[in-house]
Order: sequence, then C-alpha cells, then structure tokens
Amino acid sequence: MTVMTQAVDDLTVENLTLSFGGIQVLHDINLRFAKGEITGLIGPNGAGKTSFFNCLTGLYTPKQGSICLGEKHLEHLSPPQRAALGFSRSFQHVALCPELSVVENVMIGLHRQSKAGWLAAFLPLAGGRLERKHNRERALAALDNLGIIEVADELPTQLPPGLLRLAEIARATVGNPRVLLLDEPAAGLNSVETQDLSLALKSLRSPDLMLVIVEHDMELIMGVCDSIHVLNVGRVLASGSPEMVRANAEVIRVYLGDEDD
Ligand SMILES: Nc1ncnc2c1ncn2[C@@H]1O[C@H](COP(=O)(O)OP(=O)(O)OP(=O)(O)O)[C@@H](O)[C@H]1O
Ligand SMILES: [Mg+2]
Repeated sequence: MTVMTQAVDDLTVENLTLSFGGIQVLHDINLRFAKGEITGLIGPNGAGKTSFFNCLTGLYTPKQGSICLGEKHLEHLSPPQRAALGFSRSFQHVALCPELSVVENVMIGLHRQSKAGWLAAFLPLAGGRLERKHNRERALAALDNLGIIEVADELPTQLPPGLLRLAEIARATVGNPRVLLLDEPAAGLNSVETQDLSLALKSLRSPDLMLVIVEHDMELIMGVCDSIHVLNVGRVLASGSPEMVRANAEVIRVYLGDEDD
C-alpha cells in the first residue's frame, strides 16, 4: 500500500533515450525521484546531466521513453505546460536580469501564476498594482527563507556570485514548485559561499518537493542528498545512498577517483 501511495507523486523516467543526429546522448535511462527527497545527479563533463534536465522540462525531445509525474505522462507537454504542473529549474550559468533588482528578478518566477500578466504586474496599472504588491511580498519571503532578504533592492551587478546564486534559487522556488531542478548551483562559488549554499539547499527540503541537484562539488552533493545517481556517457552507472556511491568501485574509477585521491 505504501509503495502505491508514493508512486502517485513520484517522478518516473523509463527507457529514456536522446540523440542528436547520429550521436546518442542518453541511453535507456530508468530513474525514479521521490517526493520529499533531495537527489543528486553527478557524472563527468558531457555525461548528459543537463540534457537529462532538458528532457524533464521539455526543452529536449527524447527519441523514446516515458516521463511521468505520478500517473500523468509528460512526453507531449510543452515546457510551459510542465512548468504549470510544478516544474522549476535553475541554469548552469547565472541568468539574472541586470536591469532589475534582486526582488524583481525573483518576482519573474511568479509570472506563470500571475493573472494580470507579466507586463501589467510591472507597469503602474490598477490591475497589476495589487498583484505586484502580493508578488513582491512572496518574493521577499522567498529571499528571507534563503537568508538574503537584505539584498532585495540591490542590482545583481553589485553582488558576489554566492548571493546571485541564492537569488536565482529564490526565483526558482518562489512559485512553490513540486519538482525543482538545480544545474550546478555551486559552480563559480568559493568555499564559504558553497557552505552557505549547502545550508540553503538543506533548508529547501519539504515533504512536497522533489529536489534534484546536478553538481560537480562532491562534498556538497554528499552532504545534502538522500540518494545519488551517477551518469557516465549517457548511461546510469550507479545509484544509491551517498555512502554507497562513494564506495562504488566503478564510480571511483570513472569519476570520483580524479577528485578524491
Ligand atoms: N543541443 C545539443 N546538440 C548537440 N549535442 C548536444 C546538445 N546538447 C547536448 N549535447 C551533447 O550531449 C552530451 C551531453 O551534454 P550535457 O550538456 O548534457 O552534459 P553534462 O553532463 O551536463 O556536462 P557538464 O558537466 O559539462 O555540464 C555532450 O556530448 C553534448 O555535446
Ligand atoms: Mg551540464
């Protein structure tokens, strides 16, 4: 019975295959992500991690395979339709709008839920004013949750990489996603910023959220995740708890061996 209840909300990927021209980027991927868990997705450069995220969000169209959120098949849904079901992501490179303040950038994460429309919410029109106030409050709460409310009115150009990364995560979480995909959140951060990020990621844990983190920083991934999947040249090489993955001889050989020793 418990298994069936879990399956209702899980994200299940079966037999996923992705190719570009003659090059197969993902081979027969079978993975399940559980609600309430933080999952790591690791692997060497070019393993297919970002491509896998792109398949989940609908940016890439797999050659075959199924992606289901609970019972619902997503394969034929567009990226906005998947966003409406609760998918949210951050990208490998910082992508904040430099002309908008941090809190305004975070408000962009609410445009999908805005009734007045994105433009009206930003212009001084009656229809958008109330909504803008409400959205600003939600964006401030998202920044507060990540411990960076004090930079709400700063411009991104004035901030260090660690704060920019947290602001991006605030934008990705402000709409209360069901599935949050973070692509290399620690990229370009120093060790203190990475520790702050690690705490922030742990604070995102919630019974209703599936959080999947792609990352090259092994200390962060091992410290934050409940389970880890390892991709290597488009195939799942290993899956398990951080301890199991750390001890897996194949993983050490193709990936961790470079960093640990
Ligand atoms: N749009 C595309 N067209 C052609 N090839 C692509 C495309 N997107 C990804 N690839 C190829 O797919 C493979 C996997 O790339 P991907 O970016 O998913 O790897 P990754 O695991 O995210 O690597 P990294 O750790 O460097 O970010 C690479 O060989 C890449 O060149
Ligand atoms: Mg990538």
